[in-house]
Amino acid sequence: MSGETYLQLKNLTKQFNDGRGTVVTAVDDISLTIHKGEFVTLLGPSGCGKTTTLRMVAGFEVQNTGDIILDGKFINNVAAFNRNMPMVFQSYALFPHLTIFENIAYGLKIKKLSRDVIRNDVAMACQMVNLVGLEDRYPGELSGGQQQRVALARAIVLKPEIILFDEPLSNLDAKLRIQTRNEIKRVQQLLGITALYVTHDQSEALSMSDRIVIMNRGKIVQVGSPIEIYNNPQSSFVADFIGNANFLDAQVDEVGEDTITVSLQGRTIEIDKNRVESGLAEGEEVSLSIKPEAIDVSTEKTGFYGRLDVSSFLGSITELKVEFDGTFLTIIHSNTHGIIHGMKMDDEVNIAFNNKFFRIYRK
Ligand SMILES: Nc1ncnc2c1ncn2[C@@H]1O[C@H](COP(=O)(O)OP(=O)(O)OP(=O)(O)O)[C@@H](O)[C@H]1O
Ligand SMILES: [Mg+2]
Repeated sequence: MSGETYLQLKNLTKQFNDGRGTVVTAVDDISLTIHKGEFVTLLGPSGCGKTTTLRMVAGFEVQNTGDIILDGKFINNVAAFNRNMPMVFQSYALFPHLTIFENIAYGLKIKKLSRDVIRNDVAMACQMVNLVGLEDRYPGELSGGQQQRVALARAIVLKPEIILFDEPLSNLDAKLRIQTRNEIKRVQQLLGITALYVTHDQSEALSMSDRIVIMNRGKIVQVGSPIEIYNNPQSSFVADFIGNANFLDAQVDEVGEDTITVSLQGRTIEIDKNRVESGLAEGEEVSLSIKPEAIDVSTEKTGFYGRLDVSSFLGSITELKVEFDGTFLTIIHSNTHGIIHGMKMDDEVNIAFNNKFFRIYRK
């Protein structure tokens, strides 16, 4: 990834009329800068405005206010057709009555390129996404993963500088989803294409992106690298959405120079100030969050007790649900630390929190 600015979204807002006179603000004053060659993912729950943002970038939807700037030029008034930003959809959107070759060649024919150039470019695209040998088949004769590779080939054959993806893997089963995401990432890196990618799947976002943009209710709530977002969620919304964090009620006991002290089940926990929302006061009710992998069950007394509800052995990990302090904790135990034996539903278990992973959010 180079530091060169490629695409800028400036204060974009999009409102829809729902047909009954109510105005829905789908995208609410978002600004974002994307660098050349960067893989940027819009991640957020259903209805948060991801597709609408992508459609504005593609030119399928016109924003109410704000600007889209591509390579230094305002493209607000450039028609979708002239933006050269192919989009890859969940539904593949292939032409069923055209062969794979014809599907991939379609955009080049419209550009009126010569037959030789078309044949050559389609062959290169097929090579790139491992479709060689399937050119004469029809989409209905391919698997879902192969069809999505055709959609990808159809995009790259246009030699775009940016490709837009809207949940391209959602129709594929779990194993194929991982294979195809690796394929997309490989091609994107090889060709140095900028990617703006939409998903609501956190593992897809974490594994593919240079930067993740978390959206909620039409707004951008955090932008950062996967590691930054995962390790440093700045709100309880992000902590919940990207790390499946557990949340516990607690009260601030003491605000010190570098740490904040809270009590949990009568025991004191000290938390570094950089893991705490700023401006918390003594006595304030707060949410204490901790990710499932930062908690474990222990054979030794830890001072924290819970009741085992469910224990699921999943091979490399065991996932446990433990009732604790009026809530249910999700715990991920790594089986490389020893497989848990002999625990039964309703057993009292010792809970070991890895204190340095606690974060505190304002309620
Ligand atoms: N054409 C439209 N007319 C009216 N409302 C719309 C229209 N398109 C989108 N919306 C509304 O705008 C909001 C954002 O929709 P959008 O499709 O951008 O969400 P999304 O983040 O892509 O969600 P999903 O993950 O379900 O695809 C939603 O509340 C949606 O109902
Ligand atoms: Mg969508």
